[in-house]
Amino acid sequence: MLANIILAFTALTALVAAQSAELAGNVGPLTTIATKKATKTCDITSSAYGAVADGKTDISAALNKAFAACKSGGVVVIPSGNYALSTWVTLSGGNKWGLQLDGTILRTGTAGGNMIMIEHGTDFELFSSTGKGAMQGYGYVFHKAGSTSGPRLLRFYEMTDFSVHDIALVDSPAFHFSLDTCDSGEVYNMAIRGGNQGGLDGIDVWSTNIWIHDVMVTNKDECVTVKSPSKNILVEQVYCNWSGGCAMGSLGADTAISDITYKNIYAWASNQMYMIKSNGGSGTVANVVLENFIGHGNAYSLDIDQYWSSMSAVAGSGVQLSNIKINNFTGTETDGAERGPVKILCADGAPCTGVDVSDFNMWTETGSSQAYTCRSAYTDLSVSPAKFCLKNAASRPSYDLVTKTVTSAPAGYAAPTMAADLASPTWGTTEEIPIPAIPASFFPGTTPIKALAGA
Ligand SMILES: *[C@@H]1O[C@H](CO)[C@@H](O)[C@H](O)[C@H]1NC(C)=O
Ligand SMILES: *[C@@H]1O[C@H](CO)[C@@H](O)[C@H](O)[C@H]1NC(C)=O
Repeated sequence: MLANIILAFTALTALVAAQSAELAGNVGPLTTIATKKATKTCDITSSAYGAVADGKTDISAALNKAFAACKSGGVVVIPSGNYALSTWVTLSGGNKWGLQLDGTILRTGTAGGNMIMIEHGTDFELFSSTGKGAMQGYGYVFHKAGSTSGPRLLRFYEMTDFSVHDIALVDSPAFHFSLDTCDSGEVYNMAIRGGNQGGLDGIDVWSTNIWIHDVMVTNKDECVTVKSPSKNILVEQVYCNWSGGCAMGSLGADTAISDITYKNIYAWASNQMYMIKSNGGSGTVANVVLENFIGHGNAYSLDIDQYWSSMSAVAGSGVQLSNIKINNFTGTETDGAERGPVKILCADGAPCTGVDVSDFNMWTETGSSQAYTCRSAYTDLSVSPAKFCLKNAASRPSYDLVTKTVTSAPAGYAAPTMAADLASPTWGTTEEIPIPAIPASFFPGTTPIKALAGA
């Protein structure tokens, strides 16, 4: 008895210790899958629900029925096999439930919207017990016809105390996974692989108290991106593999983002390592930490752009950025003269405050110089002299673009690569994209924080 209590206590301490000060409290489901399964299991292929794993017969009715039977406590199981989804499903209002996706869901319908929308639920876990569960969106069918108007794969709306793990999301016609207005969730051990074009975001999150870790995204748009409003988001051990890169934004009117940490982020052949993007707008972004980033072959590296030209200007004098700590970036950028590794362009109508860039050692892959550019960006008053092209002053008037060019490599810029980097994408937008395995590592020298399923 005492031993059991000690064991339970040790397990609890380990669970709590694994979570982090950047979060606002525990994340993830409140009840274990074993307990939920002991309550009830609803296998969609059982005669009560009637799904057929033939890759052709729509499973939406079976999935809806199994959900109705297990939504108040239990686990809906999609066993291994190929399942067609031609009518989209909304699984609303579950409590103490799970969705075990060991099979592959193939998109056969063509409507817009979300193939699977999970909303207004709590104490929920979406996972694969084998690490082989997947959604295959066959987005290439839309993309080769020049369209991104097909469905998103997965959307969570107003979910609390949940996790999503050990599944692959492949070739979405549009975005792969959005977390909209959720609270206290954990997303981990995921492989997301989309087509090589814009508009196919990996993970977009606007929520509170969310931990996203050990995720690989291959696409050509958002890798893991925070949108407004958001608070207490921790993103770590993310592998942006030929992606757009991680970002915050686009930020518009009444932006409300705070307490966001990204750490151990690896970006390869992406548009940027990290971007904060806006053009006009209002509101605030406060308390951001970007640390331990490695980049290779990316266009931009640190890219704060409050005059982002790909976005139409929004009314307002600019989103106020404050207390932005950038620490320990290493690696190389494609062309440092053209697109230097430090670019901090803040809004003249709302100059950035408390921007600190430390331990930033990156160098160019072509040519022999690189540029640091700043505009209306201020470091903490206590940081003296101000580093890179930042300024340091008690009153903070706007200032025009300042460029500093350096012609020698900083010490310590060399950084490891991931063994599985792509030399060039092996797929584009015109052919089926194969379902990847969940990688064994998402950042050089690290293993996933939680063991991979089926490992
Ligand atoms: C900087 O990041 C690298 C990984 O890129 C890590 O190995 C190293 O420990 C970090 N340095 C510090 C001082 O945290
Ligand atoms: C990155 O993409 C390439 C191309 O598919 C793949 O070979 C590699 O395994 C990917 N990396 C990971 C970690 O999956």
